[in-house]
Amino acid sequence: MKNNQSIGIFDSGVGGLSVLQHIHQLLPFENLMYVADSGHAPYGCQDESYIEQRSRVITEHLLAQGAKTIVIACNTATASIIEKFRQQYGIPFIGVEPGIKPAIAITKNNNIGVMATTGTLFSDRYNELSRRFAGSVNLYNQSCPGLADQVESGLLDTPETIKLLEKYLSLLMAKQVDTIVLGCTHYSFLKVQIQKMINDSIQLVDTSRAIAEQLVRVLEQEALKKTSESGSIRYFTTGSIKNTQATINRLLNREVVVNCLP
Ligand code: DGL
Repeated sequence: MKNNQSIGIFDSGVGGLSVLQHIHQLLPFENLMYVADSGHAPYGCQDESYIEQRSRVITEHLLAQGAKTIVIACNTATASIIEKFRQQYGIPFIGVEPGIKPAIAITKNNNIGVMATTGTLFSDRYNELSRRFAGSVNLYNQSCPGLADQVESGLLDTPETIKLLEKYLSLLMAKQVDTIVLGCTHYSFLKVQIQKMINDSIQLVDTSRAIAEQLVRVLEQEALKKTSESGSIRYFTTGSIKNTQATINRLLNREVVVNCLP
């Protein structure tokens, strides 16, 4: 039965765990395989052909393991390859993209900041998305080099991370934004730090939960939902097992076993 097959989830590294947590909460019976491409992170400063090649290796590995659906828990990879992969592989793909629409729904002064990687902000997909809303709001794009790397190393509170956040947030606050979109899955793990640095009146938009909800809808539509026997989560990395495991334990606040992606 296809329903019993796993759901594959991947990101350039550990950022996509922010989405995985919601998926596990909403779909406790599903077996999840999470791949952190930590040996090749970050994706944010790479060109599209590199991201496509890495995403293909991981997708084909997940398919070989019997994935019934794949969640690209990475804004940068979604922007580069999701349409192509939807056409090429015969399974549903769910992606993530900066939550501009939800930001528009809550902004009061129409000034919205978007924190994302350079790859996402310069992609055709993102530019099309922002063009669609360009008339109604002011979008201030802020690329955040170095920030995903800090999360990747589990360094959420170090002076270096705080310095980077101060730099990027002050640029956005200078534009009087009242809403900030977290357009990279790694940044969800910095919410507490970000919230301490911004005015109370600024709202953060994180779409991790909405992605998990979208996955539920797709599984239901495709009759692919697994509805009994508790599910498992298996973690894989293309990088150092020891380092990835330490970061995941820190981010999820529990002990997990990480396997090497062959
Ligand atoms: N987590 C990824 C994203 O959502 C990107 C981080 C990176 O590898 O640069 O875009």
